[in-house]
Amino acid sequence: MGERYAVVGNPVAHSRSPWIHAEFARASGHELEYTAIEAPLDGFEGTVDRFRAAGGKGLNVTLPFKEAAFRYCGAVSRRAAAARAVNTLVFGETVFGDNTDGVGLVADFNNNLGLSLSGKAVLLMGAGGAAQGVVPALLDAGVAQLVIANRSVGRAEALAARFAVSASSYEALRGQTFDIVINATSAGLASQAPSLPASVFKRASLAYDMVYGADTPFLAQARAAGARAWDGLGMLVEQAAESFLVWHGVRPDTRRVLERLRAA
Ligand code: ATR
Repeated sequence: MGERYAVVGNPVAHSRSPWIHAEFARASGHELEYTAIEAPLDGFEGTVDRFRAAGGKGLNVTLPFKEAAFRYCGAVSRRAAAARAVNTLVFGETVFGDNTDGVGLVADFNNNLGLSLSGKAVLLMGAGGAAQGVVPALLDAGVAQLVIANRSVGRAEALAARFAVSASSYEALRGQTFDIVINATSAGLASQAPSLPASVFKRASLAYDMVYGADTPFLAQARAAGARAWDGLGMLVEQAAESFLVWHGVRPDTRRVLERLRAA
């Protein structure tokens, strides 16, 4: 059976992570088991405690537990400390937390979209765990401008202040344009979209939704405004490859896995 890993979230039943990690393991000759565990909304810590006690080696953490996972750790990587959010737990004598979402997002831009973030004007929508997780990597990738917009403007302001970037309401974006607009809100999961003025898109803009598996209203809005639309499936595969690297010391090839997911 091999070492035990899992992804913890709520909801998590439709997660593609078990399939992706099984493919990576097969390709790299690792013996492991990787399952999906739904934790109660008020029961993240207990769920992780039980998984560790049963001999589990590591966990991926997804919605809505990335900030709780950060608090659970005894030690964290530099990038997880900057994000204050953890998506990868490693169980040894202590609990080590890492965050591979940001590098996964940047790898999707570089490897799959063929688009460099360097020098770009970027709008990031959302101020929850998903948005926090990617801000340090966007700054490391050399974006020229980063604006964080959120429905609750106070949350955008608090996040922006941590990184000395600007915050905005959606309404106040009217009249501004961006090269890249990233949706890190969970609105798409409920088939909703942030109330973004369509005027933020230029002809050459890229609209990126971190939600995957469905054409979200945000991507439809972006396409209608003439922008290129891209979902979060590539980020999912790239962050998984980075977590695999953290756990097993090898970064699996992502291209074929992403192609097979897209074809499915
Ligand atoms: P996550 O870990 O996915 O970031 P979260 O911390 O609950 O989860 O944050 C959800 C994010 O999606 C928030 O930025 C939230 O906006 P608010 O802070 O204003 O609540 C955003 N969000 C969720 N549903 C939304 C909707 N229908 N329209 C706009 N923003 C939405």
